[in-house]
Amino acid sequence: LASAPPLALADKYFQLRPDELNPLWGNPCDDIRHRRIWSKSKWCGTLPKVLVIGPQKTGSTALYTFLAMHPALAPNLLSPTTYEELQFFNNNNYLKGLDWYLNFFPPNMSNTTQITFEKSATYFDGDLVPRRAHALLPNAKIIAILISPSKRAYSWYQHIRSHGDVVANNYTFHTVITANDSAPKPLRDLRNRCLNPGKYSHYLERWLAEYSSHQLHIIDGSLLRSEPAGVMNTLQKFLKISPHIDYNKLLKYDAKKGFFCQAVGNDRTKCLGKSKGRIYPPMEERSAKFLKRYYTPHNTALSKLLVRIGRPVPQWLKDELSSNG
Ligand code: A3P
Repeated sequence: LASAPPLALADKYFQLRPDELNPLWGNPCDDIRHRRIWSKSKWCGTLPKVLVIGPQKTGSTALYTFLAMHPALAPNLLSPTTYEELQFFNNNNYLKGLDWYLNFFPPNMSNTTQITFEKSATYFDGDLVPRRAHALLPNAKIIAILISPSKRAYSWYQHIRSHGDVVANNYTFHTVITANDSAPKPLRDLRNRCLNPGKYSHYLERWLAEYSSHQLHIIDGSLLRSEPAGVMNTLQKFLKISPHIDYNKLLKYDAKKGFFCQAVGNDRTKCLGKSKGRIYPPMEERSAKFLKRYYTPHNTALSKLLVRIGRPVPQWLKDELSSNG
C-alpha cells in the first residue's frame, strides 16, 4: 500500500476523477446529515424556487419586472456592485460558492409565504447551467421565454453594438450572421454568440435532460409583448401562486414607449429603461431571408419538441416555418 503527502494525493485523486474537479453544489438542507453540520448562522430555505432562464433579448426583463410585482413572489436582492443579474450558475460566480449565492436570498427578504425567484437570461444557453441548477434546485420551476430567433439575433446585435462592442460596430449585421469559418476569430465568435442561443430546441433538450417537462414553462415572448396580462395569468396558474392578480389592472400600454409598462396611478406609467425597446432600423430583407433558412432545422426541431411535451406552437414559430420567403 503506497501513500503520499496530501497535495500529491489530491492530484492523484483528481487524475482518477477529473469529473470531480469542478464543484457541484447541492442544497445542504436537503440531507439531514448535511443540515446537522451546516452552521447555525446559515440558511437555505430561501433558495429560489423559480428560475427565469432567458435567453437574452426575448423580453426577460419585462417578465422579471412583472413577476416582481406579484405579492407572492420575491426577487433576489440586487448585486451591490453590478446591480445586474446574478449569473451564478453560468460563470465564475459559481466558484464563489453557495454562501455567495445565498447572500442574495437572506432569510428576512421575503415574508414566509413568498416564493423567491431569480432571472439570469444567460442561463438558457450556458453549458453547465442545467446540471448545476438541478443539483441545487431540483424542485425549481424553470421559465424560458422565446421569440423568433431571427429577431432575437438582431436585437442582441443591436444591444451589444450600443454597448460599444468594437467588432459589432465594425461589421454590419449581415456580415456578422453570414461570416464563414475562414472569417477572423473575433467575427466568428460574435457570429456564434449572436446565432447560437436561437437554436432553442438544442438548449431546451439540455434542460429537459435535468428537469421534468412539468417543471418547465415556455412563454411566447411575442405574446408577452402584445398581451402581457394573458401571459401572466397563465404563468400564475403554472406557479400555483395566490392571490391571483389581474395584470390588466397593473399594466398599461404606454404609446410613447410602444410597450406595456407598470401602471403607477394618476394615469402614469413606469416603463423599462431605454435599453429595453430600443429604436433601430428594420432588419434588411436579405438578412431576414438568410436567418429564416438558417434557423429552419432548429425551428422544426423546436416545433416537434413542443408537440412532444404537449405545449402550444406559438404563432411566430408557425410563421417562421411557413414556406413563403
Ligand atoms: P429590443 O430592445 O430589441 O426591442 P431582454 O430583457 O430579455 O433583454 O429583452 C429585451 C426586449 O424585450 C426588447 O428588445 C423588447 O422588444 C422586449 N420587450 C418585451 N416586452 C417589453 C416591455 N414591456 N418593455 C420593454 N421591452 C419589452
